[in-house]
Amino acid sequence: MRTIVTMPGDGIGKVVLPEALRVLDAAGFEVQTVEAEIGWECWCTQGNPLPQRTLDLLEEHRIGLFGAITSKPQAEAKQELAPGLQDKGLVYYSPIVGLRQHFNLDISVRPCRSFPGNPLNFVRRTAEGGVEEPPVDAVIFRQNTEGLYSGVEWTNPPSAVRSALETHPKMAHFADVPSADLAISARIFSRGACLRIVKAAFAQAAEYGYRSVTVCEKPNVIRETSGMMLAIGKEVQREYPEIALWNTNIDAQMMWLTKSPEDYGVLVSGNMFGDIVSDGFAGLVGGLGFAASANIGADCAIFEPTHGSAPKYAEYEESIVNPIAMVLSACLMLDHLGERIISRRIQYAVSQVIATGEVRTYDMMRLKGSPGVLTQGAASTRQMADAIIAAL
Ligand code: NAI
Ligand code: MG
Repeated sequence: MRTIVTMPGDGIGKVVLPEALRVLDAAGFEVQTVEAEIGWECWCTQGNPLPQRTLDLLEEHRIGLFGAITSKPQAEAKQELAPGLQDKGLVYYSPIVGLRQHFNLDISVRPCRSFPGNPLNFVRRTAEGGVEEPPVDAVIFRQNTEGLYSGVEWTNPPSAVRSALETHPKMAHFADVPSADLAISARIFSRGACLRIVKAAFAQAAEYGYRSVTVCEKPNVIRETSGMMLAIGKEVQREYPEIALWNTNIDAQMMWLTKSPEDYGVLVSGNMFGDIVSDGFAGLVGGLGFAASANIGADCAIFEPTHGSAPKYAEYEESIVNPIAMVLSACLMLDHLGERIISRRIQYAVSQVIATGEVRTYDMMRLKGSPGVLTQGAASTRQMADAIIAAL
C-alpha cells in the first residue's frame, strides 16, 4: 500500500489536516499515513523547524500532505527557543521554503475554481444593472524556487558584486549612491526551470481541456527574465497548436482578472508574479478557505492549503475554520497520484455541499471569526467535513 507523509504543523494545520484525512478515508482512498513534525513547536523545542526525521520520511515516501506552520520574526524566534538552546547561535528559517529548496519543488500549482452557490464568488454588475456571476476556472503555475524569492540579495553589497553590476551601463543611475545605501535583490531565472514550469502548464491545459495558457510576466520592461519566460512559452506552444498562448503583463493582468476572470485558463509566471496573481484569483473564488496548492518536484511532491496557521483560531474548543482548502489540496494529491476518480468524487461532494448551502463555515457567511459564530448558524470545521462525507 502507498504511504503518504502527513505534516499537520502548527495552529489550524493540526485541525484541518485530520479532517481532510477523514474525507480521503470516506472516499475510499486506501493509504498508509506516517506523521512527521514540522513548524514552530519543533523550532522551540529542538531548535530546528524542519527536523531530519521529517526529511528522511519524505525522502523515503516522496508524497507529503502539509497543514500550515507558524513563522515569527527572528527576535521572537530567539526568545521562544527552549532555555538549553538559547545561546547556540541557531537561526530560524521557514520550513516550507526549506522543503521547497531541499526537494527542489519547483512547480507550484494553484487552481482557483469557483463553486456555484458559494456566497464568496466574484460577481459583477451588468450594463443593464443586474448582477452576474461568471464561472472562474484558472490554474496558476508558479515557478517556486527562483526569481525574486531565491534569496540572492544584499544590503550594502560587497565590492565584487558592485563592480560586477557596474559592468552594466544602467548602473550609472546608481553611481553616486554609497554601497551602504544600496539594497539589491536579484531576479534570476534559469532556462531549465522556466522550461519545466511552462511545459507543466501546457500539459495541464491539454489534459484538462483549457483553451489558453497565459504567460503572465512583464517582458516589455523586465526584458531578460520575463523575456526568457515568454520566449519559452512560444517555443513550447508549438507542440500544442490547439492551445492559444497569451501574454499579459502582471499589472494589467491584476486589472483584467477583476473585470473578466472567466477569460483565463492556465497561467504561468515566475515566483513573485505567480504569488501575486494566484492570490488575486483565489480572492475571486472564496479566499483562504478555498485556496489549495501543490508543490511538485521531479521526485517529491507536497500538497498544502495556501492559508497559514491562523493562530487566533487555533485554540478554539470547537474549531470554526474552513477545511475545504485542505480537502482540495488533498484532491490535488490524488490527481498527482493518478487517483482521478476519487478526487472527482470528493470535489463533487464539496460542490454539492456548497450548492445546497445548508452547511457553511463562518467565512462563507462573511462573519467575523469568533466562537460565537457557531450559534449564529455557522458550521464548525468538523461539521463541514461531516457534510462533505455525507455528500460522498
Ligand atoms: P493565515 O492564513 O494563518 O490567516 C489569515 C486569516 O485568514 C485568518 O485570521 C482567518 O481570518 C483567515 N483564514 C485562514 N485560513 C482560514 C480557513 N481555513 N478558514 C477560514 N478562514 C481562514 O495568515 P496570517 O494570519 O498572516 O499568519 C498566521 C501564521 O501563519 C503566521 O505565523 C504566518 O507566518 C503563518 N503562515 C504560514 C503559511 C504556511 O504554512 N504555508 C502561509 C501563510 C502564513
Ligand atoms: Mg502568497
